[in-house]
Amino acid sequence: MTVWEPSGSGDPVADGICALAELETLAADRLAGPVWDYVAGGAGDQVSLRDNPRAWARHRLLPHVLRDVSGLSTATHLLGQDLAHPILAAPTATHARYHPGAERETLGGVAAAESILTLSSLGSTLPRDLGRAAGELASPWWMQVYLQQDRSHTHEYLDRAVAAGACALVLTVDTPSLGARDRDKRDSFGFSDGIELPTLSHLAVMPDPLPVHRRIWNNHLAHNLTPADITELADRYGVPVLVKGVLRASDARLAVQAGAAGVIVSNHGGRNLDTTPATADVLCAIVDEIGGAVPIIVDGGIRRGTDIAAALCLGADAVMLGRPIIWGLATYGARGVQHALEIARTELEMAMALLGAPSIADLGRDLLVP
Ligand code: FNR
Ligand code: LAC
Repeated sequence: MTVWEPSGSGDPVADGICALAELETLAADRLAGPVWDYVAGGAGDQVSLRDNPRAWARHRLLPHVLRDVSGLSTATHLLGQDLAHPILAAPTATHARYHPGAERETLGGVAAAESILTLSSLGSTLPRDLGRAAGELASPWWMQVYLQQDRSHTHEYLDRAVAAGACALVLTVDTPSLGARDRDKRDSFGFSDGIELPTLSHLAVMPDPLPVHRRIWNNHLAHNLTPADITELADRYGVPVLVKGVLRASDARLAVQAGAAGVIVSNHGGRNLDTTPATADVLCAIVDEIGGAVPIIVDGGIRRGTDIAAALCLGADAVMLGRPIIWGLATYGARGVQHALEIARTELEMAMALLGAPSIADLGRDLLVP
């Protein structure tokens, strides 16, 4: 990217952007090429990528009428924090690819929209710097964790992240290897092409006798992760550890038993193991297994307020948006991120009003066609 300029007039509201899909169209245009392939792409034949949004849209909402919804509020409570709404920004790598202000720019939009940013351990910004910016904005933030094969590398940056004020750790467990991302392979696009990963900059390249097209391990991702790692992180840092990338009820139970303070139901936006089920289709079983014990967050293909309503009706406590945050950042910077989150929140408010469910607690399975 040479000089970054916002899309249109620089104000997504003035430009009449009223749906997340419109931000996607603009972002596709300005990021066209390997960067867009990386953001938009999924693994394999992209079956799960396509299925994620469709599975939300397969749910049918069955509203109550004749209910007083004048006190409508999306306020909720998560891990000891009061939130204006349950819509969070998922961790995504290397925001400098989308905006020169990188994650600090993203944070500006997230804070303005009263949401929470999770900084990726493959981010373009050091936890210390994000923590400082978050402190100035009084915005809570979480730190995503990819464990490294040598755990001392992980501890090094997590010590700093927690000291810098990260309120929770998000341990991603669905990525012992990246998925078969053909588009990135074709573009020779990845994490070893000179892109800066300041948090892990000191990691030496892992000696690997295999030629690149035969490699599956990545130096930044541990491939020996077990429940003991959850316990170890929880004990060592004393902040809630959420486990991200769970699709099976039995794994959710295992994570909770190991000390997880929350579970994030995710198939990594269809980017890792292709042909996994859509998150909308496995959420229910996980809620039935661990609901009430710890908060459950879900992501993957959430693009409309009605998707969020369906997720909350099924029993999720909050949702995360992945790609829509990037679309906002790439097109309008912080204002785009804020607008993406505000579109989602406003649509959720409308859905709640129309469902006859004025509070988050009113969203239950009775509002879905069985
Ligand atoms: C991701 N995701 C991700 N997850 C994670 O735990 N650490 C990371 O560094 C990244 N990086 C990343 C980069 C890009 C470009 C994307 C699109 C996604 C996965 C992300 O947190 C989330 O699970 C999905 O993006 C959710 O799906 P949607 O909303 O993008 O459909
Ligand atoms: C991705 C990794 C970095 O999805 O999580 O690209």
